[in-house]
Amino acid sequence: MNILFATSEMYPLIKTGGLADVSAGLPAALGALQQDVRVVLPAYRDVLETVGAVTELGSFWVNGCGGSRRVKVLCADESPLETTVWLLAVDDLFNRPGNPYLNADGEDWWDNGERFGLFSRAVVELAMDRGGLRWQPDVVHCHDWQTGLVPALLSLETPRPRTVFTIHNLSYLGRFPYALFEGLGLPSAWWHYEKLEFYDTLAMLKGGIVFADQVTTVSPSYAEEICQPDHGLGLHGALELCRNEGRLTGIINGMDTAVWNPAKDPYLPFRYSVQRGRVAEKKRNKQALLDQLAGSVASDAVEQPLCGFVGRLVEQKGIDLITAALPQLLESSTACFVFIGTGQSHYEQQLRDLAQRHPRRVFVYIGYSEALAHVLEAGCDLFLMPSRFEPCGLNQMYSLAYGTPPVVHATGGLKDTVVDVTEDSLKTGRATGFVFSDATVEDFLAAAQRALALFARPRSWQQLQKNGMEQDFSWTLSAGRYLDLYRSGGNDGDS
Ligand code: ADP
Ligand code: GLC
Repeated sequence: MNILFATSEMYPLIKTGGLADVSAGLPAALGALQQDVRVVLPAYRDVLETVGAVTELGSFWVNGCGGSRRVKVLCADESPLETTVWLLAVDDLFNRPGNPYLNADGEDWWDNGERFGLFSRAVVELAMDRGGLRWQPDVVHCHDWQTGLVPALLSLETPRPRTVFTIHNLSYLGRFPYALFEGLGLPSAWWHYEKLEFYDTLAMLKGGIVFADQVTTVSPSYAEEICQPDHGLGLHGALELCRNEGRLTGIINGMDTAVWNPAKDPYLPFRYSVQRGRVAEKKRNKQALLDQLAGSVASDAVEQPLCGFVGRLVEQKGIDLITAALPQLLESSTACFVFIGTGQSHYEQQLRDLAQRHPRRVFVYIGYSEALAHVLEAGCDLFLMPSRFEPCGLNQMYSLAYGTPPVVHATGGLKDTVVDVTEDSLKTGRATGFVFSDATVEDFLAAAQRALALFARPRSWQQLQKNGMEQDFSWTLSAGRYLDLYRSGGNDGDS
């Protein structure tokens, strides 16, 4: 099959979160299943700088927002990736430095609606093979609000490729004023709550939900949750309809085992596997992590349990549950804590304050560092992920693979990938981590304390690590399920 994979980020070219990892891992896995996949991505400045020399494969014009713009389709001359990537270059929209969505002050670019509205129009031109590339997809697979208008605009074409739309996070709707709806020249009938209108704004994500042949989300539990009022964010009705029409499926993300594998990970000072070096090398990685983040201040910390967090510092991730429980955890145990993250400034400040107050036990890196994230997964004993909601979550899978049992809230993909420690699950070799049911400080605290108590029992702990490391989270299975969906256009009954 020819598959056009339209996304706004892709590891290692540009990444703000898990979408980038999925946009690398899933196309590679589909490629391994002998499918012809082309990933299409905006030509951000940082991406152009990373890839170096490019060739222009074709060009075309897109209209909207008061003008007509020429879109160039570029391809890197020497790509380190196995998957073909096409970059859509429109200088005034994408040739800007840094984060794909935010300016240097951390605010949304003022013209994000225009940027991704026109990106979506450009993807449609490619999908209809009007860019002179002589390649026609059978399926266009789109991701999140940035490509939400693609299924809507393709619905106006006949014949057209099939469309699949994946929701990675329902809380980002891509909402913009009516003026953008007009500026993009969208059909006036679409200004309706059953189409693209959402409380008097344009919600680009609805384009995917309403118009795609198939809608997926990234775990079976999240697929169920978003059909309920408390997680559906006002779209539960539309999503329930989608489900009743057999158009909504939950497919769990895989992880890219070429990138996240403690036996081969180039970021790790000391590599290990389930059979070799798990205990000793993890401890040496812990020392290396502490050396980087704490220097000589915490010379004895390596002997204590180390709990880690990596993630975007936003409400979703429950970082405030950790900071609220921290004083009690510090008092009731000898554990140390390490945080790597960037996001909302009040969370960043809270973490800096904690590190200042507890210089020997709390270590913080505010910023984005792929290298540190890998060393943290390897060097920590426990991983903390108390997300309020989590469509899938990748870090809990990475931590399982790295022998770092996670403490997670029973929600979305966390619930689907971590098996709680009980006497029985430990005895039968199924336990992989610590799951708590309510997103409250008390519940999180109790789970973290349960984890630290088990850590003090090395034999049980090592069994738990082994169980997690032996899980198969590779993409192969889930890529096969996407392929079935592309082929049948039907629901395979997962949710
Ligand atoms: P989300 O996509 O909601 O942010 P996921 O768990 O799916 O959550 O994926 C997050 C990805 O982003 C992981 O690969 C994680 O390691 C990475 N990540 C998040 N914040 C940082 C950071 N500050 N430094 C390095 N990697 C980060
Ligand atoms: C989103 C979700 C996260 C998921 C990722 C990749 O960013 O917040 O749970 O793992 O997308 O699908």
